[in-house]
Amino acid sequence: MNIIKFISFSQLLVFIASCNVHASLSKDIDDWLKVQVPFSTIKIKNSIHPPNSVNGILIAATAKTDNSEPDYLSHWTRDSALVMDTLLSLYEKSWGSEQQAYENLFWDYAILSGKQQKMGPCQPYIKYECEAKGGPGEPRYFLDGTIWRFGWGRLQNDGPGLRASTLMRFANLYIQKTGDVEKVKNILYTPSNFQSVIKADLEYIAHNWYNKCFDIWEEIDAHHFYTRMVIRRALLDGASFAKKFNDAGAAGYYTLQVKNLEKSLEAHWNETGGYIMEQIELNSTPERPRTQRNIATILAILHSYNHQEDFYSPISDKVLSTVLQLQLDFLNEKTYEINQIKFDSNNLPLGVSVGRYLTDLYNGTIYDSPDHSKDEGNPWFLTTLAVSELYYKAALLFQSKPVTITKLNLPFFEFIGADMSKLELDKTYQPNSEQSNNIVSRLLVSAENTVRTVKKYVGGSPGTMKEQFSRHNGKQLSAPNLTWSYASVLSVDYYRNVIKNS
Ligand SMILES: *[C@@H]1O[C@H](CO)[C@@H](O)[C@H](O)[C@H]1NC(C)=O
Ligand SMILES: *[C@@H]1O[C@H](CO)[C@@H](O)[C@H](O)[C@H]1NC(C)=O
Ligand SMILES: *[C@@H]1O[C@H](CO)[C@@H](O)[C@H](O)[C@H]1NC(C)=O
Repeated sequence: MNIIKFISFSQLLVFIASCNVHASLSKDIDDWLKVQVPFSTIKIKNSIHPPNSVNGILIAATAKTDNSEPDYLSHWTRDSALVMDTLLSLYEKSWGSEQQAYENLFWDYAILSGKQQKMGPCQPYIKYECEAKGGPGEPRYFLDGTIWRFGWGRLQNDGPGLRASTLMRFANLYIQKTGDVEKVKNILYTPSNFQSVIKADLEYIAHNWYNKCFDIWEEIDAHHFYTRMVIRRALLDGASFAKKFNDAGAAGYYTLQVKNLEKSLEAHWNETGGYIMEQIELNSTPERPRTQRNIATILAILHSYNHQEDFYSPISDKVLSTVLQLQLDFLNEKTYEINQIKFDSNNLPLGVSVGRYLTDLYNGTIYDSPDHSKDEGNPWFLTTLAVSELYYKAALLFQSKPVTITKLNLPFFEFIGADMSKLELDKTYQPNSEQSNNIVSRLLVSAENTVRTVKKYVGGSPGTMKEQFSRHNGKQLSAPNLTWSYASVLSVDYYRNVIKNS
């Protein structure tokens, strides 16, 4: 039987397109992920409830081994929510005792979170120095679960947004797998109890999103694109979640805040510069120079995007223009020396090593000298992999949505090596057209090149991952075994597999 006879012409095009997709993925990346993903999963699991900690703790990194490393041996609201979220895809596939083990981890995390939201300001430490303000916006906790009471950049309101999102995704999966709605209602979301853990976070962010707070990098007290995007995501999902539990009043209030948030997020678009600004007011000083271009804006897209909607989607020309400009910042030879290296030792192409923002000074050693002329930031694993993840997501979306060439996205398509002779300004190309397929395939090749850059500087198969790698020689720097670095490998692998199976 000739199968070609049984598939229509348009199906045939899809068939051809998906062949292209697979041809754009590389064997060396397949081979590396095959070992780096299980290794990263073990590292993540080791970071949960380590010795001398209480149930539900997830450490941001292992203990420092020398003075060039910062001490991240504690629990952050942000990091733990993001890392736990990457375990949900493993929970989804699990069954039997493995499923039970994941559920235990999530319940421990939820119960500890519920206690932490109610801590402070400072009562447990009346006898000691204490600067904690308390409540769901506190960023950091000791291994015994209590609030970090020393000076810190607080509050940080992305944390409760991320935590609510992770716990809602867990709750939905848990109900799907076990049918046990009651437990979710009793512990995670009780309409009449404002202190139940998910509701406590949702109420807090719904009433506080317009306040200034510290950012994802814990440096600036301002209004942030990242914080507002992840809060918007949580409130949008929160509205459906509240409806599910017959909490219509809350659902209405969250939906209203989403509308207000969207207006405020649109103001982060810089029309002249053609990029999304992480902060609108730039608190730049000679000691702490800042730029509005910041990879936090891309992480915001990754950590808040839902494939069902178009608000700042990975294929919006605003997002593509922003990710291009960020990479150009780091490609400048004066920024990162290692970006002059274009091929790995097997002569395969590399992508761009990406840091947090152009004028970053943080190398893991807390700056203590008044002279910052020698300070310089470096590329990070999780920020470099953010570019790959965005590209995989964009490639997925362009397989089903048309692409219109605009002044904003044209330079991006040129940058990733699309065939410019076939692309015309203001023209729209349908999915599976020659032009769209070429863009998808270039996005995938560029995503793979960027993963290869991380593979090179991880330096092992598998290899441990710190937070940063040197802009001069690629040597790993700063916090050892940063849990979030490992989590970023898992999320890149997840979306890459979605592509492979598409
Ligand atoms: C927008 O970007 C331009 C170019 O980078 C910059 O000069 C300007 O200050 C930015 N606008 C705002 C409102 O910050
Ligand atoms: C990090 O920066 C500090 C301060 O400028 C410097 O003393 C230190 O050597 C740097 N560390 C590394 C590993 O480059
Ligand atoms: C990472 O963690 C392992 C233990 O899991 C430890 O042996 C190693 O020294 C840590 N540090 C680095 C930089 O890998």
